[in-house]
Amino acid sequence: MNDFEPKHSLLAAAAAAFDDTVAFRRRLHAHPELSFKETQTADYILARLREAGIACRRVAGTGVLATVEGRGDLSRAVILRADIDALPLHEQSGAAWSSCNEGVMHACGHDMHAAALYGALRLLNDRRGELQGTVFGLFQPGEEVNPGGASLVLGEHLFEGYRIAACVGEHVDPELPTGTFGFRSGKYMASSDELYIKVVGVGGHGAMRANLKDPVLAAAELITALNGVMDINPQPEVPLVLSIGRVVADGATNVVPDCVEMEGTLRTFDEELRSRARAEIERRCREVAARHGVRAELYIDRGYPCVVNDAGLAQRVKGLAAELFGAEHTLELALRPTAEDFGYYTQVWPSLFFRCGVGGNGGGKLHTPRFNPDERALSLAPALLALTAWDILR
Ligand code: NI
Repeated sequence: MNDFEPKHSLLAAAAAAFDDTVAFRRRLHAHPELSFKETQTADYILARLREAGIACRRVAGTGVLATVEGRGDLSRAVILRADIDALPLHEQSGAAWSSCNEGVMHACGHDMHAAALYGALRLLNDRRGELQGTVFGLFQPGEEVNPGGASLVLGEHLFEGYRIAACVGEHVDPELPTGTFGFRSGKYMASSDELYIKVVGVGGHGAMRANLKDPVLAAAELITALNGVMDINPQPEVPLVLSIGRVVADGATNVVPDCVEMEGTLRTFDEELRSRARAEIERRCREVAARHGVRAELYIDRGYPCVVNDAGLAQRVKGLAAELFGAEHTLELALRPTAEDFGYYTQVWPSLFFRCGVGGNGGGKLHTPRFNPDERALSLAPALLALTAWDILR
């Protein structure tokens, strides 16, 4: 038995390191970089990790992988993951540490995630003697843009030879009060695919219908047919969403155009249903096109897969959060129809993506220019991440 009691020591240490963690976050916040362009961000992360005596290197282009080795079987490992990219927004938060890069802003809290991970790695590195196995700190680039930095990370096979016991990531949530952490077992976030459809017929004078293969009429029927794809969902409580958001038939009162362009989104919470929905979309495009004598050119830009949390891991880490902060500061999350490239990891390893409350200070919503998360969460999240890795590996 190991009588090392990490709980209170980690909380106290995270609180003691708060100023340093916040400084790290503000530095990233002031110098945001867009997806896959996080060069200065990666350099800063590397420099700070090296100062702290933590082994680290560049991975996946502009990402950073840190390694903290404990003792015992070092091939057993936990991955703690943060994303590091920013968004193309003009910051209006009014914070003193606002973006110096005009038109780029950390409006999704990835600066907070990177800082929390940095803080957690420092806590674990200071306790290497008690830590079992290996903890990887993955500062992942390009979460906001397809194909997603997670797919690059997996393509590099960075963890060959390791048995990954868990991959854990967190995301700030301004809808939750600071100090509260949200969890969900199983299906959590949606898959997201973009649909591009071009209906090509034969246009002409609107009065001469006999000469037309009318793509506008075909497109109208196709929209209705695609709407019916949602009916294949066997579980109405777990949404399957298909929306067409852009339809362009650029004719005139008396001109039927040759083609109509449509764009939309497909979201599911289940990979099998996602495949079925895609097949159904293809079939309906073919059928409607055949009926109207037009061509329906379908392109599906595959987005991120569903985030499906490992149920045992979710309950375990929720329990750890309850130990640290009190059960009243944990809650069950609802399904979330947004997408996250963390979904790729959930297909490979037992994984958990949870939420860290940063709300209650009037700091605006995610992906808005006024987003300003409550930094006090940075005295808590590093302790929970560190305890999670420590507990899974012990
Ligand atoms: Ni985000």
